[in-house]
Amino acid sequence: MTHPYRKGMKTKRTMAAATLLLTMVSGTAMAQPMVVPDDNTRQLREEFRNRKFGIFIHWGIYSMMADGEWVMYNKRINRDEYAQLAGGFCPSWFSAREWAQIFKDAGAQYVTFTTRHHDGFSMWDTKASDYNVAEATPYGKDILKSLSAACAEHGLKLHLYYSHMDWYRTDYPTGSTSSDLPHDESTANWMSYYTFMNQQLTELLTNYGPIGAIWFDGMWDHAEGTGFDWRLDEQYALIKKLQPKCLIGNNHHGSPIDVEDIQLFEQDLPGDNTAGFSGKQQVSNQVPLETCMTMNNSWGYNITDTNYKSGDEVIRRLVQAAGRNANFLLNVGPRPDGQLPPQAVKVLEHVGKFMDTHSRSIYNTRGGIVPPQDWGVTTQDGKTLYLHVLNKEKDGQVVNEGLHRINGGPLSFFVPLKGHSLSNPTILNTDEKLTIQAENGGYRIFLPKRPNSVDLVIKARLD
Ligand code: GLC
Repeated sequence: MTHPYRKGMKTKRTMAAATLLLTMVSGTAMAQPMVVPDDNTRQLREEFRNRKFGIFIHWGIYSMMADGEWVMYNKRINRDEYAQLAGGFCPSWFSAREWAQIFKDAGAQYVTFTTRHHDGFSMWDTKASDYNVAEATPYGKDILKSLSAACAEHGLKLHLYYSHMDWYRTDYPTGSTSSDLPHDESTANWMSYYTFMNQQLTELLTNYGPIGAIWFDGMWDHAEGTGFDWRLDEQYALIKKLQPKCLIGNNHHGSPIDVEDIQLFEQDLPGDNTAGFSGKQQVSNQVPLETCMTMNNSWGYNITDTNYKSGDEVIRRLVQAAGRNANFLLNVGPRPDGQLPPQAVKVLEHVGKFMDTHSRSIYNTRGGIVPPQDWGVTTQDGKTLYLHVLNKEKDGQVVNEGLHRINGGPLSFFVPLKGHSLSNPTILNTDEKLTIQAENGGYRIFLPKRPNSVDLVIKARLD
């Protein structure tokens, strides 16, 4: 992936910008206290946490270029030329119901759909612009309508991704990345653009049933501007007015501000910063966390990117996210014809098989009292502690560096735990009882044999 923003996040320039951004959006310094949520909001956030696993869909006319969702920028495509793609967009194999079934079978509980990405193309029948799927394409139908119906039918919550940044509209005041595109700055008109966004958000929150969350992205385009005010307060208030049950998340790569309900992490588990986006993020203990991740290296469909994570690897990330008290939002980038890439479907099926037998150690849990260990992570549901012994396969052998044989005895692992007692460990799916022994500062649990799966889940009682 080659957008400068990605590369730039690690540079000093953008780090400074990120700080500035936070200062800007909150109006004051970073340590701004969060708005204390009322009981209803608290309840909604807990319900979101309970769902644990969602599917992110990056789909737009960029899929036709088969080179990711940043293709317009990466190739510096002229807006009028790019817009011609719409005339060929006709996803003949698209079936929202099929998608929903696949996601449901994978064990997902919600879907986050890119209603309008940075390229500015709307994937619903918006009245705010004719640059949309219903009017500008031969397909001529409202994709979001069918998706919302299919999600409702399959009991999946619908969340909506919405880009703040726009590479297409002439009234959008260009920022750090958008200014690299051929634009005429003289037509910029913030109020017109802001009104447009709010009109679109009003449609999204009026015509598509209950929306679980709005997922914003792209406001970092103005990170380096001085005094640029996105007027989030008003926009957030509009969302809460239209659908009081709709949560708000914003992928601004900073700690959550004001009324934001979810802290978003891109390509990293909370606390990690391998992708370079989370350097400014302090993991919140107030709002739910969500990690979004690609299956290969691309969000939007990329025909040459076959670098898919294995099904086991995806399970590992999902479980690690749960162990860090975070939801996991796994991305798929559908093809322009409306099909999900078969590699992605294979991974989803693999995750689904795991969820069929293990989901009770994930859904409705919170990160366990025992923090992540070298042998794995824990999740917790009241007095039940789930110990996820996370294993890897190496040269045909299952390995786990956190498992040890003490004096040639059976394999075991140590659970650090003070002020609580742990008892009755059993293997989740067989109820096989395991030996447990108190040890200085915690407990040692013994395994009858080397685990042979990615996640050996042990259920134990915590008092
Ligand atoms: C980034 C990218 C965007 C992608 C998003 C998903 O912010 O700009 O293309 O949609 O991450 O997290």
